[in-house]
Amino acid sequence: MRRPLVAGNWKMNGSRERVRALVNGIQAGIGSVERAEVAVCPPFVYIPQVAELLAGSPIALGAQNVCDHAEEGAYTGEIAGSMLAELGCRYVIVGHSERRNLYGESDELVARRFAAARKAGLVPILCVGELLEERERGETEAVVARQLDAVLALEGAAAFRDAVIAYEPVWAIGTGRTATPEQAQEVHAFIRARLAVHDPGVAEAARILYGGSVKGSNAADLFAQPDIDGGLIGGASLKADEFLTICRAA
Ligand code: 13P
Repeated sequence: MRRPLVAGNWKMNGSRERVRALVNGIQAGIGSVERAEVAVCPPFVYIPQVAELLAGSPIALGAQNVCDHAEEGAYTGEIAGSMLAELGCRYVIVGHSERRNLYGESDELVARRFAAARKAGLVPILCVGELLEERERGETEAVVARQLDAVLALEGAAAFRDAVIAYEPVWAIGTGRTATPEQAQEVHAFIRARLAVHDPGVAEAARILYGGSVKGSNAADLFAQPDIDGGLIGGASLKADEFLTICRAA
């Protein structure tokens, strides 16, 4: 049985004061979340603050990206996985569509970031998903397969035994336009089947999250789908009550 995971991707939002209020708000209600594992992924600079606020809490900590080089060195602006691990991170998002589309990260770079995360003992959350025009051209499966295959080629299927995949259709991110539970389930099942070709056991165990305009009001229907194992939450993870409602739905 896969334990659901709900992870909040705060993106580039926050201040020390708002971070404190948000974490305290989530902590105050976490006792009402029975089954799901809950994680928050703040901007890098707030990770130490959140780690301190979360001391002794069941809420896990994650980051939003990681350097593709495992060793320290001359990589201006990058953060090593070992640094994130040292600060108490368990998860790290790699290949978010905003990284791919706004900052030009290729499938190969994302795969190397995934590998570096694992090398540091972090659990990568690999984001995949198609643009609206790709969906309209009927290319959803081809795009998701290409993004997944880049990681499979570099790391092999066994690497997914302790990894997480997040299907985030780009047209649903921050738009208020959620994929229907059926649309999401179809792609989640495709992802699981693609893993199963390599390793059925890994495919069965891998958690596949849905992301894209998940809210308190639509989370339960999405999470009721057989291959949806939780969510990667953007905007709604910045409001403690809304985020907790989503966590309880999982
Ligand atoms: P929204 O929930 O704001 O649509 O963002 C989803 C997302 O990109 C999570 O990584």
